[in-house]
Parts: sequence; C-alpha cells; structure tokens
Amino acid sequence: MTHVALRLRVWWTEQMNVRWSHCVLKVRELDKMAQFYCDAFGWQVADRGALGPDADIVFLSGSSSDHHQMGLTNSRTDSDDTNVDHNAFRVDSIAEVKSMLAQMSEHPDVRYAVPVTHGNAVSVYFADPEGNGIEIFCDTPLHVPQPVIGKWDPSLSDDEILAALDEEFGSVEGAMSMDAYRAKQAEIFGEVL
Ligand SMILES: [Fe+2]
Repeated sequence: MTHVALRLRVWWTEQMNVRWSHCVLKVRELDKMAQFYCDAFGWQVADRGALGPDADIVFLSGSSSDHHQMGLTNSRTDSDDTNVDHNAFRVDSIAEVKSMLAQMSEHPDVRYAVPVTHGNAVSVYFADPEGNGIEIFCDTPLHVPQPVIGKWDPSLSDDEILAALDEEFGSVEGAMSMDAYRAKQAEIFGEVL
C-alpha cells in the first residue's frame, strides 16, 4: 500500500462511527440461559434455529433497534478459551464494512477476516490480536429470520451487493422490509416512536 493510500485509509477509519450492537455467548444450558435473560431483562426470543448438527442459537432482544442484543449458542466446551463467540458493532455503510475488511485483511496481528452476510446485515468477522471474535456490520433494508449465514462479494458495488442479498434472501419465509420488522417489534416492546 502506498503512503497516500495508507493515510486515506486511516482518515476513513477515523471518520467511522462504530457503535455497540450485540454479543454472542457460548453457553451450556441454552433454554435455562435464554429464560434467565428474558426474565431478568424483559427480553424476548426474536428467533431460534440450528447453527449446525450439534448447536442451536437463540436470539434475544428487548428493542426494535436490533434484531438481537444477545445471541446464545449451546456450543460451549471445556476446552474453550472463552465463552464469548463475538462482539458486534454497527457502522453506517457497506463502504465502511468494505474498508474494515480490507484493513483487517492486511493487519499483521489479525488471524482472519471474512465477509459474511445474515441477509439483514453486511458483515466482516475477524479475530483481534488476542483472538477475540469481532463483527463489524451495517444494516440492510431487509429483515430475514435467523440464523442465516452466507457470503457477500467485496468486489461488487454496494448496489450489486444489496441486489444479490435481495435475490438470495428476499423471498424466504418471514422476510420483510426492515422498516416493517422494526415497526412490529416496536409495538411488541411498547416503544413510542
Ligand atoms: Fe453477530
């Protein structure tokens, strides 16, 4: 990377507004833990499904702002270094997610950085220098029932990426516009809009 390109990338990163969104924890007793947070925080189960043959995931939220504020998977093992799968932070645009992907892909202390989509988000997942899982994402205009995991192509334009997501996920059962989903959730949570 040229000096100018590096300066540009640092400037772009400094302009990003990176905000906390959610965490995903690996637990042993999924139903008990989900019930605990529903009772303690007044949250509700937004979605539940299989992550693989041996693991489920439950998504919990108490706000229309986020599909889930916490995800719980019954994938914890005694050999895990940590019970945290990842922490997730929202940015404002696909361009910012692309920038983070490029930056993390070149970072010498970052072990992996992969583009992932959940239909409702365009994300990059990476591990920080101590191996903590991090997701940086931006919302899409689409709500898709979770869990859904796919890929997006960083070489496409932002419009092409959104069109590809709409084609792949827009007609799955339960999909709707994000605005419609948030309005529905706001009513459930008694939010005044
Ligand atoms: Fe996430």
